[in-house]
Amino acid sequence: MQIKIKNPLLHWYNNNKRTLPFRETKDPYKIWVSEVMLQQTQVKTVIPFYNRWVKEYPTLKSAADASLDKLLKLWEGLGYYGRCRNFHKALKIVEEKYEGEIPNNFDEFLNLPGVGEYTAGAVLSIAYQKCIPAIDGNVTRVMARILGIKNLTTKNQKRLKRNVQKLIPTIDPGNFNQGLMELGALICIPINPACEICPLSNLCKAYKYKEPALYPHKKKKKVKPHYTVVAGIIWRDDKFFIQQRDENAMLGGLWEFPGGKVENGESLEDALSREIKEECNIVPIIKKKVGSVKHSYSHFSISFHCFHCIENGQTINHSNRRTWITLNEIGSFTFPKANHKIFSLINETELHV
Ligand code: ADE
Repeated sequence: MQIKIKNPLLHWYNNNKRTLPFRETKDPYKIWVSEVMLQQTQVKTVIPFYNRWVKEYPTLKSAADASLDKLLKLWEGLGYYGRCRNFHKALKIVEEKYEGEIPNNFDEFLNLPGVGEYTAGAVLSIAYQKCIPAIDGNVTRVMARILGIKNLTTKNQKRLKRNVQKLIPTIDPGNFNQGLMELGALICIPINPACEICPLSNLCKAYKYKEPALYPHKKKKKVKPHYTVVAGIIWRDDKFFIQQRDENAMLGGLWEFPGGKVENGESLEDALSREIKEECNIVPIIKKKVGSVKHSYSHFSISFHCFHCIENGQTINHSNRRTWITLNEIGSFTFPKANHKIFSLINETELHV
C-alpha cells in the first residue's frame, strides 16, 4: 500500500510550523550550524546559541578561520563539545578542499568530521533540496507509529528508512523532512500524542490499534556510572591555576581546575594530592573545602568536591595549556558546567586562604 502522507504533512507543516531563526535562511552554512547544534539538544535551548553564533560568524570562512578556543566559548553551556570541535575541523576542510562550498554530494558531505547520516540528510534536503531522509528521534517515532512498528530492531529501522526514502517528494524534500520532525515535536509526542488533531491519524497504524503511545517500545535507559571527583583551586595571591584539557579527550579544549577521580578507599584529600602531583608535579597544601556540587554529563554523573589550595614551596611549571587567572577573567575561558557551579560557590567562601 502506498501511504499518502506528503500532501497532508506539507499542508500541516506550512500552517503550523514554529517560526525558528534557522528556518528564515537558505544559507547552507547556517542550516548546517543549526543542525549540528540540534543534535542531542532541544530547539528552545539551541535558539540563543544559534543566534549568537551566526551573528559572530556570519560566513563559513569566518568560522573556519576562528580559533577553536573562540568557538568553544560560543558553545559553552550547550554541551557535547565534540560537536564544536568536529564542526570546526569540517569547516576547515570545506574551506581548503572545497573552496568554501559545502559539498552537495551525500557521500562527500558524510565524510566530513562529525557529519552522520542524519545531519547529511537534514542539511542536503533543507539547503539543496536533495531527496535524502533525515531520521532523528522524532521522525523515528512518527514513522514507527504510522507503520505500526513496536520494536525498533535493526531490521525494522531499515524498513522505516526505506519507507521514508520511498515517501520523500522531489519537490520540497526539506520541508517534508522538517514536517516529520515538527509533527514529532508538536503532535506525535512520546506520551499523550494529540492524535485528534494529527493530519496523519487516518493512515496511522498505531492510532488504528488504539494505543499509539505504546509505539515504538521505549528502550531501557542505561544506568549512568557515578564518580566522585576532586579538584583544587590553587591560589597565588588573587589568581588561581587552570589547565586546558587535551583536545581529543571528553570536554576536550575546555579549561578546568586540576583534579580527578577518587579511587576506592581513598580520602578526598589524598585523591586531590595524588592528582595534583600527577598533573602539576607539586604536592599542594590543602586549606579548606570550597563546596560540593553534583553534575550529570551525557554518559556519567559526578559528585564534585573542590578545595582551596596553595603551592607548597614548589611552583607549577609553565606551558601554553596552563595559566593563572583572577575570578574576573573566567569569562574569557570555556569551562565545563561543574566548574561554573563551583565558581558560584567561590564567592560565598572566604577568599583569603
Ligand atoms: N531538529 C533537528 N533539526 C530540526 C529542524 N530543522 N527543525 C525542527 N527540529 C529539528
